[in-house]
Amino acid sequence: MFNLKGKAVVVTGAGRGIGTGISRAMAKCGADVVLAGRSAAPLEVMANEVRSLGVRAITVPTDITDPTQIDALVGAALAEFGRIDAWVNNAGSANAADVGPLIDLTSDRFDNVVDLNLKWTFFCAQAAARVMIAQGGGSIINISSRSGSQPNPMTGQYGAAKAGIENLTATMAVEWGHHGIRVNAIAPGLVPTEDSLTTGSMSKPSRVARQIESVPLRRLGTVDDIGAACAFLASDEAGWITGETIQITGGSRIPVGYLTYMHKITEELKG
Ligand SMILES: NC(=O)c1ccc[n+]([C@@H]2O[C@H](COP(=O)([O-])OP(=O)(O)OC[C@H]3O[C@@H](n4cnc5c(N)ncnc54)[C@H](OP(=O)(O)O)[C@@H]3O)[C@@H](O)[C@H]2O)c1
Repeated sequence: MFNLKGKAVVVTGAGRGIGTGISRAMAKCGADVVLAGRSAAPLEVMANEVRSLGVRAITVPTDITDPTQIDALVGAALAEFGRIDAWVNNAGSANAADVGPLIDLTSDRFDNVVDLNLKWTFFCAQAAARVMIAQGGGSIINISSRSGSQPNPMTGQYGAAKAGIENLTATMAVEWGHHGIRVNAIAPGLVPTEDSLTTGSMSKPSRVARQIESVPLRRLGTVDDIGAACAFLASDEAGWITGETIQITGGSRIPVGYLTYMHKITEELKG
């Protein structure tokens, strides 16, 4: 893995799902970790795991949709570690209550999803950048989704929010690059987590099987697949990468029609 010794990394949504994979990967690479999320108990569990890997960890219960709590998160990270070398904006989701066809979408359900996945994700990045400008650089990583670059029946506003954060990622990279700040996004394909198993495309076993068929590597992602990519982007080895959205999907962004055609050709070639 990459060398993150001496770096301090903030991870939002660190107590569950993909956030656990990100926090674990950062710690395995030697980073000290600031674990943020609304619920305190899962953050404590994660902090114990991270500390067992030989690094320091603090937990900061934070609702990222409250600007005073974002400020408090920054303050706690600086008080403990004196700097923020990387900040991963992982907190996000589309609650089951907000999912449905566009024709029935209400203003409230639109705002719930777009505010969390676009607006407040941006303001977290802005808070991180203000620290990084003062200290002379850093790495911001926004967790987008494969949904950000394709149609999303039943979660249209979620895909639009993720497309928005990918666009802002590129603009942040341009505006803050001369401060030594790199800003990138990671767009995961399907990773079984509490969120993804209760909403949308993995909420029934038959759907999971169909999803796996559409992945050339023939498996769903793991939280550690996404964590490893985040550790890379936080590391000095990624020092000339900024403004990018990296797709981590087992190849499943290849259009399904083309994939079906290619599978047929492959079967024919096998004889
Ligand atoms: N799983 C997938 O297949 C998949 C695919 C593509 C992209 N993603 C993206 O990956 C990220 C993680 O998703 P996941 O599947 O791991 O979801 P998850 O299991 O539901 O975890 C979401 C995390 O975000 C935190 N969170 C939610 N709202 C928050 C808020 N207002 N303030 C602070 N923390 C908040 C949750 O913790 P608390 O509830 O304790 O706050 C939790 O730790 C999301 O950005 C999601 O859009 C996931």
